[in-house]
Amino acid sequence: ESEALAALIAKRVLDVSDFPQAGVVFKDLSPLFADGSAFRTVIDGIVDHYGRDGFDVVAGIEARGFVIAAAVAYAVGVGVVPVRKAGKLPRQVVSASYELEYGQAVLEVHADAFVAGQRVLVVDDVLATGGTAEATLGLVERAGGDVIGFTVLLELAFLEGRKRLAGRPVHALLAV
Ligand code: PRP
Repeated sequence: ESEALAALIAKRVLDVSDFPQAGVVFKDLSPLFADGSAFRTVIDGIVDHYGRDGFDVVAGIEARGFVIAAAVAYAVGVGVVPVRKAGKLPRQVVSASYELEYGQAVLEVHADAFVAGQRVLVVDDVLATGGTAEATLGLVERAGGDVIGFTVLLELAFLEGRKRLAGRPVHALLAV
């Protein structure tokens, strides 16, 4: 079952060399998102992993994380919270700066996004260096959420992002 999911994703990832800058191989998951049957199977796989009652809200990381977060949230009937790049959210935020594989950036979430103790499933498309995830999990906690899991479709294990998330409940449908 989980091997079938991994194979489904592996077949629908395109490696794009030197994007967004020289030396980086970008993992383009748009063929997976564009395949309705595969997309549904992957979303169902995430729901099955955590259980339909396993979380109270889903947080998605801009931008591709939004696609996955919304689908997972809809599948079980919970809400979705956007974790956004700096300057996009209109009200009071908590923010964190982080190192990306290719540069530096700031992520933000509304300060009142979570009810205290709410069980939050954080989702993104790719775990690379782990900077994005590390910043996001900290943000969710500072905003009062209880992170019960961080899940990605694809983990680039050679970048050792999991090390930065030591002690965190990380799940990847496919690791390469
Ligand atoms: C990509 C990806 C993850 C992050 C992973 O997003 O979607 O969010 O990088 O990298 P890391 O583990 O090294 O932090 P990107 O920053 O390209 O943003 P985008 O989805 O808005 O294009």
